[in-house]
Amino acid sequence: MASNKKHLTPTPSATGIYAHIVGWGMAVPENIMTNDDMASIVETNDEWIHSRTGIRERRIASEKESTATLGYRAAQRALEVADILPVDIDLIIVATSTPEHIFPSTASLIQDWLGASKAGGFDLSAACSGFVYALNMAAQSIKSGSIQTAVVIGAETMSRVLDWQDRGTCILFGDGAGAVVLRASTQQGGILSSVLRSDGGGADLLCIPTNNVRDLNGHKVQKMFMVGSEVFKFATRVVNQSIREAVDLAGIQLEDIDLIVPHQANMRILQSAARKLKIDLDRFMSNVDRYGNTSAASIPIALCEAVEQGRIHDNDYLAFVGFGGGLSWASMVLQWGVPEPEQHTTRLGQQRRQLSYTLARWRNRINKVRRNVSQFFNRIRPNAGRIFRLQRKIEQDEIL
Ligand code: COA
Repeated sequence: MASNKKHLTPTPSATGIYAHIVGWGMAVPENIMTNDDMASIVETNDEWIHSRTGIRERRIASEKESTATLGYRAAQRALEVADILPVDIDLIIVATSTPEHIFPSTASLIQDWLGASKAGGFDLSAACSGFVYALNMAAQSIKSGSIQTAVVIGAETMSRVLDWQDRGTCILFGDGAGAVVLRASTQQGGILSSVLRSDGGGADLLCIPTNNVRDLNGHKVQKMFMVGSEVFKFATRVVNQSIREAVDLAGIQLEDIDLIVPHQANMRILQSAARKLKIDLDRFMSNVDRYGNTSAASIPIALCEAVEQGRIHDNDYLAFVGFGGGLSWASMVLQWGVPEPEQHTTRLGQQRRQLSYTLARWRNRINKVRRNVSQFFNRIRPNAGRIFRLQRKIEQDEIL
């Protein structure tokens, strides 16, 4: 992978191990909700939404879909591209603000469905910055030498936590998932730098309460709320600053960045960032018009589409930038380049992955049956003991 970059002196990894993205995949619900559809739910219109945000439509999960099922499908596709078996995964991180449960983690569910029997898994909560946070955690584990392979997923079903009567928020968000496979390699490049930041002073500007939070009438409140104008100001301030910091840390220069893959919140935020960074808007990947804001899933979904559209080439420098609830924000610089042996999906690999998913389904079912049977015997055993003791007593009485 020879490079012809002008300013190519990226900071080397201290251990000589690099963390490369070797697989990517996305999954979005089929159900499309356009701005016109939205106008039948709240008082709004296509012109207002599009001119303020750039959004035309978003995807909404069906009853059968969930954060875990979308994340699972995205992870399967990423494993396919990477041609890696589930059993080779060491770690699964799911960045999400809409997990299936508080616990078990969505990552644990996906680990089980994949049959990733040697993987640890956890969910990470950093709102719309979550994917960059999670990618940084996985990359650090790989670069330290403690693991080889990680699957990092951003997955959301925002439609389940929106207040569908609040036109200031419900028009902005959508559902979906994206995933990448991160793998250790001695080949230079991959994740070069990360900048993670948080300002809890803005916690009340963008929030999804848990079901412990009640309003003054004692009713549970579990809907998103947001102070849009303040979040807008925060986002336009931090995006440009944190990209600059990540670029400095990576040891390259801003003009070396070939493509910025930002969190897809609002086209106007991207326009402002482009102006402040003095970078052409066409060096920002954007698909907010078709998916809206999918929170932690937006960067990996945009990354997948950028690859599909041929906008990313070997040795390109990319910047990811996320921002959102916390308040939190995060930037990352990486050099793209899939190490050679990983580049072709083998038929055998495909079959072994399918087998792993099938076996995982069966193992899951058999375990459930085994647990039910054991619970059944646990329930009847005390009675069985009582009957046995009674029988013995009768026999003894007869003997006496
Ligand atoms: N349709 C039509 N009118 C709407 C509307 C909608 N969906 N939502 C709000 N309005 C109205 C308001 O009621 C207000 O009317 P008024 O002047 O009669 O009171 C007017 O439009 C302006 O509202 P305002 O909230 O000031 O609009 P805005 O220009 O700030 O745009 C956002 C609102 C939400 C689009 C904008 O603040 C934003 O994008 N913020 C960032 C949000 C974000 O990206 N969050 C996620 C970060 S991860």
